[in-house]
Amino acid sequence: TKKITNICCIGAGYVGGPTMAVIAQKCTHIKVTVVDLNKQRIADWNDADLDRLPIYEPGLADVVAEARGRNLFFSTDVDQAIAEAQMIFISVNTPTKTYGVGKGMAADLKYIELCARQIAKVSKDDKIIVEKSTLPVRTAEALRTILTSTGNGVKFDILSSPEFLAEGTAVQDLMNPDRFLIGGEQTESGEVAVQALVDIYLNWVPRENIITTRVWSSELSKLTANAFLAQRVSSINAISALCEKTGADVDEISRAIGADSRIGAKFLKSSVGFGGSCFQKDILNLVYLCQHFNLPEVADYWEQVIKMNDYQKHRFAKNIIDSLFNTVSGKKIAFLGWAFKKDTNDTRESAAIYVADELLQDRAEIHIYDPKVSKEQIFADLCRCEEERRDNLFDEVAKETYCDFLKKQVVVHLDPYTAMQAAHAIAILTEWDEFKTYDWKKVYGDVLKPAFIFDGRNILDKKQLSDIGFEVECIGKR
Ligand code: NAD
Ligand code: UDX
Repeated sequence: TKKITNICCIGAGYVGGPTMAVIAQKCTHIKVTVVDLNKQRIADWNDADLDRLPIYEPGLADVVAEARGRNLFFSTDVDQAIAEAQMIFISVNTPTKTYGVGKGMAADLKYIELCARQIAKVSKDDKIIVEKSTLPVRTAEALRTILTSTGNGVKFDILSSPEFLAEGTAVQDLMNPDRFLIGGEQTESGEVAVQALVDIYLNWVPRENIITTRVWSSELSKLTANAFLAQRVSSINAISALCEKTGADVDEISRAIGADSRIGAKFLKSSVGFGGSCFQKDILNLVYLCQHFNLPEVADYWEQVIKMNDYQKHRFAKNIIDSLFNTVSGKKIAFLGWAFKKDTNDTRESAAIYVADELLQDRAEIHIYDPKVSKEQIFADLCRCEEERRDNLFDEVAKETYCDFLKKQVVVHLDPYTAMQAAHAIAILTEWDEFKTYDWKKVYGDVLKPAFIFDGRNILDKKQLSDIGFEVECIGKR
């Protein structure tokens, strides 16, 4: 067996930060160093003011407060951290490629490759490399090739241990995981490496919740898990459209089918569409793999999950326009929520972005309130939509013109009531709990009539709002 006392994690993002904070908290005998090229991010992780950590996750600040400076360190000195560590986690981003071969589909592995080259260059003794990032199946093979062909002759064991945490519940998910997964090679040193990582997780996770598999199974399990989860959301969203035509109620259906233990009750909440940095990217990645291995039927099957999600976002925006007498030009639409789900400040792929973009194309004025998302982030998100529409051919003049347009049409508020003041319609895009507790009577007095609310998350009390006088439109209800 190999006892690990020094870990390095490359990538201090939504996965690297919380995962390493929890490992450090649970394993006081291990020195954990999280490194990143992004100096600002590292400075934020080291900020004395815990409210300014770069990532908002309930409970995270307490974990960081306990471990930071004791056995948890955040640094920009990547080389030193690699050199000292016996085990190196790679948690860098693996976004969808935006250029060249596999554009719009394949995972962009350039950051992974850079990590491998740097590890190879710096390592002077044997290392265990752990893939934490979500990767296409067989990436470990590419990693091995780079590590061994450019390294100093030291030995590398490569493990896959994908992360299943969800944002907003990251700390909870890490403390009590349904399972941790480790894929390793069926060789003597592969098994020693697997055991070394099992031993780390055993500090707080029961052995039966740690699954060990072959490397390829582990890599592909991650893409499969996300595809299944997203497919559930798309499936219930597909049914929501049928509910709206027929008078069935999608929440009642979720309850009825979820009671079947074979189906299960979780992840059946109909919504304006799933977002987040993972689902779409990972399914596209899966679709690309299927195409690559010449399995077009399999590729089409999974691609439909994304098409259904695009349809759901579009349907929501279109319903707002249709309900407001076929135009939102010059009308004030209040957005409650911008994050892709509650309890996170992450906006990547948030449905709100696409709904806002569609309304902006119809020249709406959008007034946004989100408890955790900054104004800068919202403008950056909307700008990116235009950039994608122009296929990245965005010269400075065009960019400035579009930014000016956004500045005219979009206002970000720090107070929900001012965001809703004199609005033609209110749209709920994120299921933040606080939205349920607003003084809706007061809001009713402040908005234009007919007072429309489009609840994209089905979180408000429809009956209560209708009694006040609102025209309430929910997902999957007539
Ligand atoms: P992120 O963008 O928040 O963080 C990645 C970090 O890696 C960035 O801070 C970036 O600066 C850094 N980085 C990139 N290249 C680097 C290099 N060569 N050296 C040092 N630092 C480098 O990404 P994330 O959300 O944490 O996701 C990371 C991976 O985990 C992705 O593969 C993602 O699919 C996967 N994942 C994410 C989640 C999630 O909920 N966000 C959940 C499970 C898995
Ligand atoms: C997801 C996976 O759940 C996690 O295991 C993986 O590691 C990363 O990707 P995340 O994207 O953080 O996590 O959040 P998740 O809770 O899965 O929600 C994804 C999106 O689906 C959100 O926009 C959410 O609002 C939406 N959703 C989820 C629904 O619309 N309905 C549901 O029933 C569940």
